[in-house]
Amino acid sequence: MDLTCRPRRLRSNGILRKMVREVRVDKSSLIYPMFVREGNHIKEEIPSMPGQYRYSVDCMEEKLVELRDAGVRSVMLFGIPDSKDEVGSGAYAQDGVVQQAFRKAKQVCPDLYLIGDVCMCEYTSHGHCGVLCGREVDNDRTLELLAKTALSQVQAGADMVAPSDMMDGRVAAIRRLLDESGYKNVPLMSYAVKFASSFYGPFRDAAGSAPAFGDRKSYQMDYHNRREAWKEAMLDVQEGADIVMVKPAMAYGDLIREVKERVNVPVAAYSVSGEYAMVKAAAQAGSIEEEAIMCEMAVSAYRAGCDIYITYFAKELAKCMDAGMIG
Ligand code: PBG
Repeated sequence: MDLTCRPRRLRSNGILRKMVREVRVDKSSLIYPMFVREGNHIKEEIPSMPGQYRYSVDCMEEKLVELRDAGVRSVMLFGIPDSKDEVGSGAYAQDGVVQQAFRKAKQVCPDLYLIGDVCMCEYTSHGHCGVLCGREVDNDRTLELLAKTALSQVQAGADMVAPSDMMDGRVAAIRRLLDESGYKNVPLMSYAVKFASSFYGPFRDAAGSAPAFGDRKSYQMDYHNRREAWKEAMLDVQEGADIVMVKPAMAYGDLIREVKERVNVPVAAYSVSGEYAMVKAAAQAGSIEEEAIMCEMAVSAYRAGCDIYITYFAKELAKCMDAGMIG
């Protein structure tokens, strides 16, 4: 056969395959999401997310050290309070569960980078991501509470805040309060392109944050939309977001790519609870090879264009990177 181009030439040797690899991944881009609950001596497995736990503040250290030792340097904290109310006051309480968790984590693992998820849904009795006016979430009244929440997390030790509520104008509101309070240099990562997704189901079990009525479609995005993703991302950059996120990751690679091409800030992708749960369930059923699938999913998000990957598999991925399975 007289073939000029033989793409297989570059696949013929392992060293060569790595030399010509187009996407390279690194542990420094991983963020691990972690659930912290009120109480003492608690490490309870989340039924829908085997291998993931809710930790009480006094039990966090073991996990933080394990992550650090694996080379995962960034952790995003989610608080699960014992009691909730209409206005989510636990979200911005000085001694709230996540604020306590930041203080503890800074003390026991000062070399980790700590990120605060800023939202009301784990703290409101109705489970919505803001305060209600009738059965509607009141956007503008919620902004003040989100800003207070972000500030309280930073005061407790968060190095970065990440609003996930999808209210309009929250990036500007949080930025303004942080700046006025002397935190001009604390970065803000916006969950800018966040879809109303059934992939969050296991998270809501974990955090007890399912809405008591209705759904989140009046604030999270409709997954039929593509151009709206650029609109949300660009608005948040204009409002001062330092990093924008696309969420979920697995079924949204097209949007990771498009957002990446349209903004000039780093892009994060969040591989959410449902993605994790599906991999675990299929692996337990013997249908797939867990580690290989996890690696392939992660690389596909980086290939789509993310700079940062948020995943419950962070520690396991770090190990695969060390072992050279991906990298
Ligand atoms: C809070 C929040 C959610 C997730 C991250 N922050 C749940 C939701 O919007 O209902 C989902 C994360 C995951 O599924 O892993 N608003």
